[in-house]
Amino acid sequence: MGNGIAHVFARAGFPVLLYDIQQSFLDRGLAAIEKNLAREVAKSKLTPAESVVALSRIIPTLDREALAPATLLVEAATEQFPIKSELFRALDKILPEEAILASNTSSISITKLAAQTQRPDKVIGMHFFNPVPVMALVEVIRGLQTSQDTYDRVHALALQLGKTPVEVNDAPGFVSNRVLMPMINEAVFSVMEGVATPAAIDQVFQLGMAHPMGPLALADFIGLDVCLDILRVLHEGLGDPKYRPCPLLVRMVDAGWLGRKSGRGFYRY
Ligand SMILES: NC(=O)c1ccc[n+]([C@@H]2O[C@H](COP(=O)([O-])OP(=O)(O)OC[C@H]3O[C@@H](n4cnc5c(N)ncnc54)[C@H](O)[C@@H]3O)[C@@H](O)[C@H]2O)c1
Repeated sequence: MGNGIAHVFARAGFPVLLYDIQQSFLDRGLAAIEKNLAREVAKSKLTPAESVVALSRIIPTLDREALAPATLLVEAATEQFPIKSELFRALDKILPEEAILASNTSSISITKLAAQTQRPDKVIGMHFFNPVPVMALVEVIRGLQTSQDTYDRVHALALQLGKTPVEVNDAPGFVSNRVLMPMINEAVFSVMEGVATPAAIDQVFQLGMAHPMGPLALADFIGLDVCLDILRVLHEGLGDPKYRPCPLLVRMVDAGWLGRKSGRGFYRY
């Protein structure tokens, strides 16, 4: 997701600092950006020259301190609270006082992330959708202490990126994943209980509900580990057993079958 977010900011003319913890992850991210920019050139959405300029706006770094001049952070690290909270505490000290700290989290409480910082009024959710350069939606999530000024700035920024911001309040899974993940989980239960094959389940949704992708193909696309992390946040945060992650999903993640990114999930890639 981080590479997609860097892509749309660079394409909209913003200078971007792309931070990760390992050079190989930065290299993979930059390669994805190059490939996706080339795709946009092939579709005549960008000229080759614009694509070169967009790419040149992205500066990769392994050094947190290099983020010091940033006026906006969009955090897109692994969907685990200890990782994100550590980042928010550290970056709160590094970024300028007036900078906005946004998170692309799919489910973690913005209010809790905000409480890790000395600027809870400037912390907000900026939830993009995969693939970021293609999908129009940004869920803009207000934490309990998010100020109106922060909300207005992020709303305007989303429009500048060519996206459509939708306002949502902070609650586990926000709107998108509160509704989507139980559907995916139920599809996994249907596989586990032998109700139908993954292909059959996906066909039901594609042909019967006009979904462009069935729930299991979508789960593979999102990443089964990401889906499991989100379901755990829903289960814990809402305290309702209906969000219990399907044991088959847990087993697949334990096996390293994470979907497209690992070459195997409900389908093989
Ligand atoms: N996958 C999706 O479709 C999707 C959609 C919307 C939002 N999100 C959210 O975006 C975030 C990232 O998801 P993803 O699918 O790209 O996950 P991913 O596991 O593919 O990538 C996470 C990246 O974060 C990096 N990272 C880990 N710890 C870090 C740290 N301490 N500092 C900096 N970088 C660190 C990892 O090296 C990796 O490159 C999550 O919060 C997820 O919920 C994902």
